[in-house]
Amino acid sequence: MTNETYTLNNADGSTSLELPVKKGTLGPDVLDIGKLYREQGVFTYDPGFVATASCESDITFIDGDKGVLLYRGYPVEQLAANSSFIEVAYLLLYGELPTATQLAAFDNSIRTHTMLNEGMLRFFNGFRYDAHPMAMISAVVGSMSAYYHDTMDVNNPEHREIFAHRIIAKLPTIAAAAHKLNVGQPFIYPQNDLGYTENMLRMFFAVPAEPYEINPVAAQALDLLFILHADHEQNCSTSTVRMAGSSGANPYSAIAAGIAALWGPAHGGANEAVLRMLTQIGSAKNIPEYVAKAKDKDDPFRLMGFGHRVYKNFDPRATIIRKMCHKVLDQMGGKDAPLFELALELEQVALKDPYFIEKNLYPNVDFYSGIIYRALGIPTSMFTGMFAIGRTVGWVSHWQEMITEPGRRIARPRQLYTGAPERNYIAVADRK
Ligand code: SDX
Repeated sequence: MTNETYTLNNADGSTSLELPVKKGTLGPDVLDIGKLYREQGVFTYDPGFVATASCESDITFIDGDKGVLLYRGYPVEQLAANSSFIEVAYLLLYGELPTATQLAAFDNSIRTHTMLNEGMLRFFNGFRYDAHPMAMISAVVGSMSAYYHDTMDVNNPEHREIFAHRIIAKLPTIAAAAHKLNVGQPFIYPQNDLGYTENMLRMFFAVPAEPYEINPVAAQALDLLFILHADHEQNCSTSTVRMAGSSGANPYSAIAAGIAALWGPAHGGANEAVLRMLTQIGSAKNIPEYVAKAKDKDDPFRLMGFGHRVYKNFDPRATIIRKMCHKVLDQMGGKDAPLFELALELEQVALKDPYFIEKNLYPNVDFYSGIIYRALGIPTSMFTGMFAIGRTVGWVSHWQEMITEPGRRIARPRQLYTGAPERNYIAVADRK
């Protein structure tokens, strides 16, 4: 990076550039730099898109300094306390809270699209028994474009709606099938008389040999986690879905791309990484050693579940999940209570540490969620799959917003080229 400062040089000799400012309902204004390259011959540079708004959106608002998260304007705390995942899914998809009639019709549509094509189900026989669930989920979701090619006209509103209902309805079935393969048990078909999370629990944990009774605390905890994971503005996986979809690719493939992006440990894979980290730390006496490793620039170890690109205060979701942890462990048997106690202790140590304070590193959504999943009996490798189930409605909502945007353009960023200058080919005989 040079210390050179750039002086604008307009044709009329002026050195200022008027940039259109766009104002939103909430949050920072944006500078429209669309004409910058054409008029000034320069690009802007923002690796990781720390200060770049990639689109306009009506779906979710985050204020990272105040720890605010709104879904279509409604605070996530109010939705967590009063709503259900199916109602929140409707809100994110359609923009308004549903009437009782609209909610019943939407819920019924989701319930009647939970089954998989039997051919899709056979894919699971081709995976190794120990395949990572995210590998199976992303593969099978991608294969949906091979089954529903008759309703993939992205310009057809009816096709867009049936895609949305199908993929939201089928994600739990696909995730449960992956889990059943991992545990060597027979696949359990969905039941349309069960609600979304009850159906998911039954597909995961029922076996043909005995009746399965749904634990209402488990169903409530899972429904809350799905609400809290439903959407989060232009995060890595959602931006991936928007970018893949911007080429006009079919929506199932765009969602499969989002699932792949979510799998990374810096993103949705963090919940799995948190549990592995807590298990590795083992006891409170080891916390100082691991906090020191997290602070050591030469050590790649990071405190998983801590820090966030946007939240420089508490992630409101982490606060809500921490409360739910207490309830789940109290009511479902606390074999993992020591793990929760360790997480609470680690949080307290980190929050008092000058490094974490200075860098505004707080627990994020992934720090406590894994403790609840584990208390519900969900294996660690399936934690990101749970995240994907909740986030599918956010991905679908953003895909629909992108694909219906007037004047939509394919996403195609530029670069700063730092490679070799132009040079001529050298025959192999002449190379040294
Ligand atoms: C999710 O974007 C979203 O909205 C994501 C998400 C969603 O709902 O979609 O909220 C879900 O992905 C939550 C984040 C889950 N990931 C983790 O918990 C992994 C651990 N966290 C870090 O990898 C990191 O904090 C990120 C990836 C979350 C954020 O990365 P940034 O914004 O690029 O920040 P950074 O890596 O530049 O960190 C800033 C500083 C750095 O130090 P300096 O270079 O300034 O000296 O903070 C340090 C980092 O080294 N730092 C950490 C740390 N996180 C950041 N140091 C130790 N432990 C950590 N966890």
